[in-house]
Amino acid sequence: MTNFSIDTHLSPIKKEKPNWGELEFGKVFTDHMFIMDYKEGKGWHDARIVPYQPITLDPAAMIFHYGQTVFEGLKAYLAKDGRILLFRPEKNMQRLNRSNDRLCIPPIDEDLALDALKQLIAVDKEWVPTVEGTSLYIRPFIIATEPYLGVSASASYRFMIILSPVGSYYKEGIHPVKILVENEYVRAVSGGTGEAKTAGNYAASLKAQETADQKEYSQVLWLDGVEKKYIEEVGSMNIFFKINDEIITPALNGSILPGVTRDSIIALLKYWNIPVSERRISIDEVMDAYRDGQLQEAFGTGTAAVISPIGELLWNNEKMIVNGGKTGELSKKLYDTLTGIQKGDLEDPFGWVTEI
Ligand code: COI
Repeated sequence: MTNFSIDTHLSPIKKEKPNWGELEFGKVFTDHMFIMDYKEGKGWHDARIVPYQPITLDPAAMIFHYGQTVFEGLKAYLAKDGRILLFRPEKNMQRLNRSNDRLCIPPIDEDLALDALKQLIAVDKEWVPTVEGTSLYIRPFIIATEPYLGVSASASYRFMIILSPVGSYYKEGIHPVKILVENEYVRAVSGGTGEAKTAGNYAASLKAQETADQKEYSQVLWLDGVEKKYIEEVGSMNIFFKINDEIITPALNGSILPGVTRDSIIALLKYWNIPVSERRISIDEVMDAYRDGQLQEAFGTGTAAVISPIGELLWNNEKMIVNGGKTGELSKKLYDTLTGIQKGDLEDPFGWVTEI
């Protein structure tokens, strides 16, 4: 890292804040953003906080043509005592660098990126929403900026952080969502980019998501890209099942996104001495458990989605109604505990929470 000091140019205008009670996900942005550029031979440079505004890029910038980009998602919460808290932000920066490595993007200095993030939030602290169930969503991302149409790694990049006060990701909020098990398309394959947080994985998911929308399902559940048999993840979250009192989540296999919330839920379950397995699980095993009356709960985990109970899974026109379509006891306890730690309402035995 070269020349790291953050220049701050405050916005002359403060935008009007939305009604915190009516926040949707990712539609409103704060007054400032963070930018840092990279150039081969110069390294990362010119770190700055500037007023939130459109950016100008050459139409030949490689991001537009070959999708060389990575991103992260994390949240800041306002505690009752007025502190602003971040949840395991170092994990996101570590994952950003793992994604960078997969996409041939030069690594960022994780400590300096964390510092930038904290300074940006401090500047826009009035944008951390105050209503129950809301938070300030943080979106760090890196794009390839070199104007060049050859397929290769770019010689220049831009790292940015933008902030968005958000409500629930799903319109259902904490109520159970309906999930369509995808049987035609796949999200990722072994050796592909599935475990990196890169735009292409999400672009590839849109076609299946459109079908799910038409059938009034919230998201799709992806199966493995080889046999279309083993469960991978849901569109914007990892997935857990409670079957016969065991909690099962697909093991990380290179094509599943290693979620920070997923990791935290596994740690919480272990802390409570609840049996949890990370292993291969097929959709047939889930269907068999359902038919035997042993599928007790299912829920998704993610930064945006938090803990999202699953009330229904549709697989090949056969419906699995989970826990009578209601939020399960364990999903509720996990949601309450995780959000309680994140907001500073509950003790944090893991040291996960960082104050800004
Ligand atoms: C997140 O949970 O933060 C994500 O990045 C998922 C995204 C699709 C909203």
